[in-house]
Amino acid sequence: MGGGAGATIRLVFLGPPGAGKGTQARELAREWGVPHVATGDMLREAVAVGTRLGREAQRYMDQGALVPDAVIIDLIAERLSQPDATSGFILDGFPRTIPQAEALEKLLKDLDWPLGRVIFFEVSQAELLRRLTGRRVCRNCQTAFHLTSAPPKRPGVCDRCGGELYQREDDSEATVLTRLKVYREQTAPLLEYYRSRGLLRTVPGEGAIEAIRSAVRRAAGA
Ligand code: AP5
Repeated sequence: MGGGAGATIRLVFLGPPGAGKGTQARELAREWGVPHVATGDMLREAVAVGTRLGREAQRYMDQGALVPDAVIIDLIAERLSQPDATSGFILDGFPRTIPQAEALEKLLKDLDWPLGRVIFFEVSQAELLRRLTGRRVCRNCQTAFHLTSAPPKRPGVCDRCGGELYQREDDSEATVLTRLKVYREQTAPLLEYYRSRGLLRTVPGEGAIEAIRSAVRRAAGA
C-alpha cells in the first residue's frame, strides 16, 4: 500500500483543523494495525498530566497558535523510535510547517523508511467552522462526535468507551478562526511541498464519513 501491495503503511494525513483527519485516522489505524500518531492528542495528554511539555504547549494551543517546531520535532522523533512504529504509522497533524516536513524527511531517510503518501482532506471553510464549534470529544479515548452530524447515542457520553464528552478549549469560534488563519499561512505551503515530490493525493473531505474512508483507502493504495 502507498507504493505497492504489502508495502509498509507510512502515511501523513494533511488538512485544515476540522477536516476529519482524526476521525478517519483513528479507524484506519485500527483497521491497518498501525499506530495513530496525532501530535494534538499527544500534546493534550501532556497538558492533562501537567508535564513540562504540557505546560509549555498549552500557552500556544489555547491561542490557536502552533507549538514551536523544535518541541514538536523532538516529540515525533521520540514517538517514531518506539517499537510499534516499525510496523508503520499514520501521522495526523504533523508535519504542519515546512521545517517540520524537512525534519521528517531527514528522520525517515536516516531510518530508511520511505513515506508512502500524503492524504489531503479538502473541506470548505464554512463546513470547518460548523464542525469545530459543534465538536465534542471523549476525555478517555479521544473519539470525536458532533452535536448534529455525528451525535453520540446518549448526550455527553462516548459510544465507544462510555467516557465523558467535552468541548475542546480551542474549539470556540474566535480560536477556530485563528487556527484556520495559521493553517493557511503555515501549513498550506506543504501541499506544494508534497505535490512536487509526487506524494500528494487529495480526497474530498465532505460527505458521509464511511464514503470518505473508502476514498482514503483508495488514495492510500490500500
Ligand atoms: P490538533 O489536535 O492536531 O488539531 P487540528 O489539526 O486543528 O485538527 P482537529 O483535531 O481540530 O481536526 P481533525 O481534522 O482531526 O477533525 P476531526 O476528525 O476531529 O492540534 C491542536 C493544537 O495542537 C494546534 O492548534 C497546535 O497548537 C498544536 N499542535 C498539534 N500538532 C502540531 C504541530 N505539528 N506543530 C505545532 N503545533 C501543533 O473532525 C472534526 C469534527 O467534524 C468532529 O466533530 C467530527 O465528528 C466531525 N466530522 C468528521 N468528519 C465528518 C464528516 N465527513 N461529515 C460531518 N462531520 C464530520
